Amino acid sequence: MREKIERIRQEIDAFANDTREAVERFRLTFLARSGSIPALFEEFKAVSADEKKVLGKVLNELKNLAETRLREATARLETSATGAQSALDLTLPVIPNEVGNLHPLNQTRYRIIEIFERLGFNVSDGPEVEDDWHNFSALNFPPNHPAREMQDTFFVERNPDMLLRTHTSNVQIRLLEKQKPPVRSIMPGRVYRNEAISARAHCFFHQVEGLYVDRNVGFADLKQTLYHFAKEMFGADTKIRLRPSFFPFTEPSAEIDISCLICKGKGCNVCKYSGWVEIAGSGMVHPNVLRNVGVDPEEFTGFAFGMGIERITMLRYGINDLRLFSENDIRFLRQFQTVI
Ligand code: PHE
Repeated sequence: MREKIERIRQEIDAFANDTREAVERFRLTFLARSGSIPALFEEFKAVSADEKKVLGKVLNELKNLAETRLREATARLETSATGAQSALDLTLPVIPNEVGNLHPLNQTRYRIIEIFERLGFNVSDGPEVEDDWHNFSALNFPPNHPAREMQDTFFVERNPDMLLRTHTSNVQIRLLEKQKPPVRSIMPGRVYRNEAISARAHCFFHQVEGLYVDRNVGFADLKQTLYHFAKEMFGADTKIRLRPSFFPFTEPSAEIDISCLICKGKGCNVCKYSGWVEIAGSGMVHPNVLRNVGVDPEEFTGFAFGMGIERITMLRYGINDLRLFSENDIRFLRQFQTVI
């Protein structure tokens, strides 16, 4: 019996009673009615009177030890629980759970893509660092032509043939070089111009290019496509106006204006009191461009357009300064939370 007592003492010492469950297990193992210590007391009844004197003392010590351990462990749990409770100050204000959102320019980009995808346009991509051929020459800009002057950009010093693209029209060329018509695609992306930064201009901005080349594509298709786009994007009562314009890569060319959303055509400072705001350049693809990519202009015709994503976003939300889009001011950006 002495050995049993000794073994149980060792068990008590080794018992890790650091959780609520462990403390309860400790109690059940040693002290509860069916535990090992009451069982010893039962055995104790049967030992001889001599032995009782000695063993009685040892047995009581064992029982005290187990009870003390149980009390200590329970107390420890309680203080740590109350300790945890006092660290949790329920009167503190809640830390707000910040939900991110898409940048307003991306929201507009996705909306534009959505509208054109429904018309059967797919989405293409091209490089921002481009060579002269794809950005200018293939688009029918003759060397030293003044039209290049309107799109001054940043050139790569070590290789003057490379530049930051001034428009997404380079993707028209890249697409037609690898894909025979019919081609019906839109091409969103970032473009660069060497301009002084102001509320209306920046050294980079975003465009979406559109290109539709097939047999029998006419100017009416261009007009109807952009009219549909304007109504989808800005509302069913939006009107469009086409103004004659010039681009080397389209002939004829037109600027697309929409009726001013802010004043509904009455005249305000957004539309400079004209009632109309420009949203895109467009035109019929110039025969020279088709020839440059090996497409026969006698067989195929097409239209193209390029619109500024910033401009459309500014009209959509009534934003009056282009610089806001690239300053990363969270107070500006978090106003464009959307439920997706
Ligand atoms: N690339 C022209 C620009 O950036 C826009 C445009 C695209 C015009 C396609 C006509 C056709 O100003």
